[in-house]
Amino acid sequence: MKVGIFDSGVGGLTVLRAIRERFSNLDLVYLGDTARVPYGNRSRETVIRYSLECAEFLISKGVEVLVVACNTASSQAIDVLRENFPVPVLGVVEPGVKKALESTSGRIGVIGTQATVRSGAYQKLLERSGAEVFSKACPLFVPLVEEGLLEGEIPEKVVAMYLQEFKEKGIDTLILGCTHYPLLKKLIQEFLPGVRVVDSSEAVAVELESVVKNEGSGETELYFTDRSQNLESLLEIILGEPAKARILGEDLSRVSERNSLS
Ligand code: DGL
Repeated sequence: MKVGIFDSGVGGLTVLRAIRERFSNLDLVYLGDTARVPYGNRSRETVIRYSLECAEFLISKGVEVLVVACNTASSQAIDVLRENFPVPVLGVVEPGVKKALESTSGRIGVIGTQATVRSGAYQKLLERSGAEVFSKACPLFVPLVEEGLLEGEIPEKVVAMYLQEFKEKGIDTLILGCTHYPLLKKLIQEFLPGVRVVDSSEAVAVELESVVKNEGSGETELYFTDRSQNLESLLEIILGEPAKARILGEDLSRVSERNSLS
């Protein structure tokens, strides 16, 4: 089976990695929209347009299931994607919420991009189950990860700056509502000892079990819309080994326009 995964950039490779760990035989096609990252500070309309174009590209590659690895796209565009494509569409929000609710006394923190927090997507689902939710956008985490700054004084200070308030709120669970944040998980966990840190990337891989069979030739194709700075080294950091990136080299809207004409 062929599964398509997209994200605004490289961060969604944390989701690809979690899926690969569970499903060795699936064929995976990944698209990172590195030419237009970040999505996290854009309007809902723009996030929806970009998401439709990413999905269109993956469908043109023959994928039978779509995984929206990007939390921003999941929280803003999932319904539109489900309406427009005749394949199962999995986002990261519902699985993350499900995992968070498995074991909590009801005080849950959510961190994500500005767009994800503004959408209230995590908040609404969690509150439906009676949880008390504290959300915070942590926009500087994304450039830290993109720069490969995963440990040391600078990321430690940024983690403390954003997360201090969660210590005071007495949360017992924190959802990492952004593809990039699992790469800062160690620092986040050290800063909030005793808090259960929920990684949506693992949660979506678990969810996929109800949709796919572990069948295929186990191939992975990685596409990006731009050869961004540090691309190769980030791929290696996130995937744990060097990987071949294919660069589309043209605007994604033109790629999907051409596919829809052919
Ligand atoms: N992939 C985005 C997310 O998970 C983070 C990076 C961005 O802002 O595009 O929300």
